[in-house]
Amino acid sequence: MNTEQRNNATKTMLGLKLPTDPRWVNVAEKNIAEILIDHAYCEQKAASSCISLIIQYPEKEKLREVLMPVVSEEWAHFRMVLKEMNTRGIELGPQRRDEYVHLLYNSMRHGGTRDQQLGERLFLNALIEARSCERFRILSQEISDESLRDFYHELMISEAGHYVNFIDLAKEYLSAEYVKTRWEEWLETEAEVIRNLEVRGDRVH
Ligand SMILES: [Fe+2]
Ligand SMILES: [Fe+2]
Repeated sequence: MNTEQRNNATKTMLGLKLPTDPRWVNVAEKNIAEILIDHAYCEQKAASSCISLIIQYPEKEKLREVLMPVVSEEWAHFRMVLKEMNTRGIELGPQRRDEYVHLLYNSMRHGGTRDQQLGERLFLNALIEARSCERFRILSQEISDESLRDFYHELMISEAGHYVNFIDLAKEYLSAEYVKTRWEEWLETEAEVIRNLEVRGDRVH
């Protein structure tokens, strides 16, 4: 896939405004142990984030119904990554600072209604899913390790489903107009974050 095709796929699949720098996959492939360690923690954080949404919004039955299976899937992903690491003799080691998530988190809008606050959390999660999905697609297409290609292909499909889950939940609790406007703003913010981040081959994002 050339850069233009990749750009188009990114836009149509996920709405992301800035495709990943093509240099990323080359450095990532050379640091696959670091990528897997970072990835394991991404899955753990995804599961933890869904658990905290469920307990912080106990009155939202639909949210719980949608996110409970996502918790299980993210935790299964965490275990899958650990298994891949195990076969390669890679130790988990301590969690690293996630600059991408940190910058997105700092872009959350404060105030507004309880549902708008929930919306911020859902948009944040949706963006992380979308960007992870995009990066997993690149890994599934461009790295030379066949078994890891299949592994990332499977995960890409799953994360795309989660992205849809979060957007659908936002639409459940907020008006279509609000979601459209705020999501567009978030996409711009995310592109700005990606633009300003150093291209690092030891991080998923
Ligand atoms: Fe996942
Ligand atoms: Fe996910």
